[in-house]
Amino acid sequence: MIQIFSDPSAVAEYVSEALIAKIRSKPEAVLGLATGGTMEPIYARFIDQARQSGLDVSRLTSFNLDEYVGLSADHPKSYSVYMREHLFRHLAFDASRLHLLNGLARDSVAHCQAYAAKLQGYGGIDLQLLGVGGNGHIGFNEPGTAFDRPCHVVKLAEQTRIDNRRFFAAGAVVPESAMTLGLVEIMAAREILLVATGESKAEIVAEWYRRDVTEEIPFTILKRHPQTTMILDEAAASLL
Ligand code: GLP
Repeated sequence: MIQIFSDPSAVAEYVSEALIAKIRSKPEAVLGLATGGTMEPIYARFIDQARQSGLDVSRLTSFNLDEYVGLSADHPKSYSVYMREHLFRHLAFDASRLHLLNGLARDSVAHCQAYAAKLQGYGGIDLQLLGVGGNGHIGFNEPGTAFDRPCHVVKLAEQTRIDNRRFFAAGAVVPESAMTLGLVEIMAAREILLVATGESKAEIVAEWYRRDVTEEIPFTILKRHPQTTMILDEAAASLL
């Protein structure tokens, strides 16, 4: 299903309401969380709505999608800090239930396996939020990633490093690799909301629409997922 809204704030309203409805129906839900510019207005709206409605988030569990290899949980550009700043510190979450990959894990391959096993121990993801990279990546599953790949370490595509440079200080080096939940864990989520906003996503969204499922464009795999909603603003949908 595709839903198109006028702008990012209308998108944020819709996604925030979907999150709240899910949490109300299942207060102990496991959420799959994403980072990136697309998610910022969504988390901001969610925080407001959760506060206004006195939503209980204390029984929620979350698993984040990905993390840069080499960044500590205190590094300002780590996804740990992103999540704390944009969501976790604003509501009464139970910190022990908020899971992120550790960018400093000594053995990142083993760490990915343990992370996937922990997620499995929680019964998998009830609701997965996804953004999409300009090259069609979800999490950090770059073009060419095998669809049967579980959580893994990935060398980032050059375009991804260029796209994400805007989040780093001038002159700072964008990490070369990352850890990410794989397409296996993402596709096992019971429900998926993929969000794309802005003109910069219009081309890849149109590619998604036109093309069959292909590993060249990782998020085309979502066409095989029975409970996925593509949530777009008019700018991202402008080439459909
Ligand atoms: C990043 C993240 C993804 C995110 C995507 C889009 O590299 N790893 O999880 O969804 O790229 O980011 P943005 O929303 O900033 O465009």
